Amino acid sequence: MTILILGSGGREHTFAWKMVQSPLCDKLFVAPGNSGTAEIATNINIKVTDFDAIKTLVLEHNIEMVVVGPEDPLVQGIHDFFLNDTQLKHVAVIGPQKAAAELEGSKEFAKEFLFRHHIPTAAYQSFSVDNVEEGYRFLETLKAPYVLKADGLAAGKGVLILNDLDEAKTELKSMLVDAKFGDASSKVVIEEFLDGIELSCFVLTDGKNYKILPTAKDYKRIGEGDTGLNTGGMGAVSPVPFATEEFLNKIEERIVKPTINGLIKDNLPYKGFVFIGLIKVGDDPKVIEYNVRMGDPETEVVLPRLKTDLVEIFKAISEERLNEIDIEIDDRAATTVMLVSGGYPEAYEKGKEITGLDQVEGSIPFHAGALLKEGKVVTSGGRVMAITSYGNTYQEAIKKSYQNIEKLHFDKMNYRKDIGFDL
Ligand code: AMP
Ligand code: GLY
Repeated sequence: MTILILGSGGREHTFAWKMVQSPLCDKLFVAPGNSGTAEIATNINIKVTDFDAIKTLVLEHNIEMVVVGPEDPLVQGIHDFFLNDTQLKHVAVIGPQKAAAELEGSKEFAKEFLFRHHIPTAAYQSFSVDNVEEGYRFLETLKAPYVLKADGLAAGKGVLILNDLDEAKTELKSMLVDAKFGDASSKVVIEEFLDGIELSCFVLTDGKNYKILPTAKDYKRIGEGDTGLNTGGMGAVSPVPFATEEFLNKIEERIVKPTINGLIKDNLPYKGFVFIGLIKVGDDPKVIEYNVRMGDPETEVVLPRLKTDLVEIFKAISEERLNEIDIEIDDRAATTVMLVSGGYPEAYEKGKEITGLDQVEGSIPFHAGALLKEGKVVTSGGRVMAITSYGNTYQEAIKKSYQNIEKLHFDKMNYRKDIGFDL
């Protein structure tokens, strides 16, 4: 079949890498794609939220399946757009419909869902410009640190964790009254702070059945020892060594099952990935957030461990027979280290040539913010490339990634040298 992947990151290169291995994949397009996807598929330069251009592309090439990488098109209703169009409704779209995508599109919606279905999560209240004063009073009842979350999508920047009460009040005002994150902070969720170690769980669902994929842990801060500004993710490890079988059972019973049943009860149509951000508090898992897509760079360690044909899985999801699929996982660990542009996550330069890719041995470089220009691979974003390796242990895998990174170069290249340090 002919397939289209929407997106341009390391996640989408990994999807493409996995899907071209399937005998079911005859032709693969990626929009807009990057230098990595250009090597194995056909890139089409259209935006992931330009639904009309996507429709034209799908009709022109008889595309039968669309795999949606990032959250924006899902929250804007791309799946509904396909279902409501007589020319497109036969196309399999992997990603939830708009109503379900609100689990990522609105923190308040997600919290209400979690409480309605008795899924463990932090206590919270939400506030708008009409009750800022009540927000201050609520903050006074909490202990530091204070967790403030913009309700809507804020490109991963909408969560503030503050140690000082006055600072928390000032930030609350700035979000609600001065629209610090634009429309996204017209509502703010204030949460109880949860102290523990984070991990992520990835679930596939066809809206009725579910399958759990390997766990992963990502490293969000720019600096070693988890310091400095938040990024999209600087590296990842799978599986998560502290997620024992007993702990995984708790995740399935207390979180995954009620989540899938909740989607059914609330009539939220879902065919795709559920990314559950978790925190281990004592011995118990609690939900920090839902995302309605795969994580990046978590995809770069989870999909390499999946032995089952991904196109076959997607086909089963679209036909609501995921229960018929056996998910086979590689026992080896996988790790990835993200190479980023100097300055990221603040201002950085682009267009730097990346050299040494032909020297890489025993690792897979998944391209992210990188493009082909006059036959050369050059940087085009903050997160440039994720170097993934396998190993019998995560330590062995990470060593291989770092050995190969020694061979790679671009001007002002930066990366964290401590991925896995806390495990
Ligand atoms: P989110 O965008 O909801 O994933 O939040 C970003 C990051 O903020 C998470 O990955 C956590 O590190 C942290 N965080 C969010 N909510 C809480 C909470 N209730 N307690 C502690 N840390 C949190
Ligand atoms: N790595 C975190 C995310 O994809 O949201």
